[in-house]
Amino acid sequence: MSALQWGGRFTRAPDAGLIAFGSSLREDMLLAPFDVECSLAHVAALRGGGIIDEAQAAALTAALERVRGEIADGAFAAAACEQNFEDVHGAIDARVREIAGVTGEWLHAGRSRNDQVATTLLLYVRDRARVAAGQAQAIAAAFVARARVELEAETLLAGTTHRQPAQPVLLAFVLLAWAEPFVRAATRFLAAEATARAFCPLGSAALAGSTLPLARERAASALRFERPSRNALDAIGNRDAALDLAHASVRAVVDASRICEELIAWSAPAYGYVRLGDEAATGSSLMPQKRNPDPFELVRAHAAAAIGAYSGALGTLCGLAPSYQRDLQVTKSQAIGIIEDALVTLQAFERASAAVAFDRNRMTERARKGYTLATDLADALIARGVTARAAHALVGRAVAEAESERRPLDAADLERVATSAGLTSLTAPLDATASVAAKRTEGSTSPDCVGAQLDELDRELLALAKALA
Ligand code: ARG
Repeated sequence: MSALQWGGRFTRAPDAGLIAFGSSLREDMLLAPFDVECSLAHVAALRGGGIIDEAQAAALTAALERVRGEIADGAFAAAACEQNFEDVHGAIDARVREIAGVTGEWLHAGRSRNDQVATTLLLYVRDRARVAAGQAQAIAAAFVARARVELEAETLLAGTTHRQPAQPVLLAFVLLAWAEPFVRAATRFLAAEATARAFCPLGSAALAGSTLPLARERAASALRFERPSRNALDAIGNRDAALDLAHASVRAVVDASRICEELIAWSAPAYGYVRLGDEAATGSSLMPQKRNPDPFELVRAHAAAAIGAYSGALGTLCGLAPSYQRDLQVTKSQAIGIIEDALVTLQAFERASAAVAFDRNRMTERARKGYTLATDLADALIARGVTARAAHALVGRAVAEAESERRPLDAADLERVATSAGLTSLTAPLDATASVAAKRTEGSTSPDCVGAQLDELDRELLALAKALA
């Protein structure tokens, strides 16, 4: 059986090196089960249009079911990789012809690899988008669960901006801030899934539609698309859903990389906020004392690589005339690579994050270091009628003085600041617990607010889990 899907008008065999160069078989092997679905739907479209009879449809279906089994047990990949197939679609078609004989030759009636590839890729995107949404949901849920524990423990830390001590916050508040991007990531994954469900390209044929009476509605509904695609030329060259999922994947990994950066810093002895469990930490081959946060560094690197891969994928699309061009084979491989790598990376991120233990005492103890209560003091002045600028200047001077005496802000500073502002007395939080408790705005780090955020996120994540089940 020839590995080529064409040949009649050629007199010489193609250059083996060029055939190998043009093969995406290895990259698109994981599309195999989706191609079988797509091919079964095409059989339904052929039968629905009366292009094949019942016996032919049954034979093609049986052959495809057999291929499905061979894909599952690995026999298909092993056999296909021994031949020079251009892609998995051709390999499946060849295997069907091998199994079903001449009846197998009817499978490609009215079909081009152009609509076949486009449809198969959408089925793959739908599958992986749900897996990715589940992964994002699980990551968010794990942070929310830990936030509940830390809220209970009242763990505090010095929240930072520019990596400098800024204001005391609850660790639970930080953990919820880590959960939020993954809730959004799940939404983006599901949006990509919806895009991949809207239009079924099958029956678009090469670019212009078909003269054969294909029952496109049947194929679309068998594959659970909303409807057959509207414009054949657009359908065969459209890679939106794959790129949307690739984009959502890159974004999620980039989000993870930011948390990794925080955890890498926090696990350094200078911070000492977290200890990475033995299951996730790595040692040095030379320095016996080392305990390195490699998985977080690797996630960070995968994020950087994903950005490059994504721009590469967009690059292969840029400037392509709207139709099928062979460049799209590379777009496909790149999108698959990004999507698969993100799934692996997010899973590693989830596992490594679960191995992090917080040093509550150290965090809480340092929550007010670095004059993190200065803003509360300025706010107290403002609440008593001092302008924001004047309050800022007064507290700034008090901080400079305390700093020169190497001590924290204390009750005496409060009194001095009050007197300078012409007030007889002033109350302001003088410890980190009072500071967070005094926050009033919605979304703030006050324990009540964090509790409310927690409950809301819990509800959202539960709904998401149900939608994905
Ligand atoms: N191997 C190609 C891909 O996976 C399909 C080829 C489609 N059509 C063509 N005329 N070369 O994208």
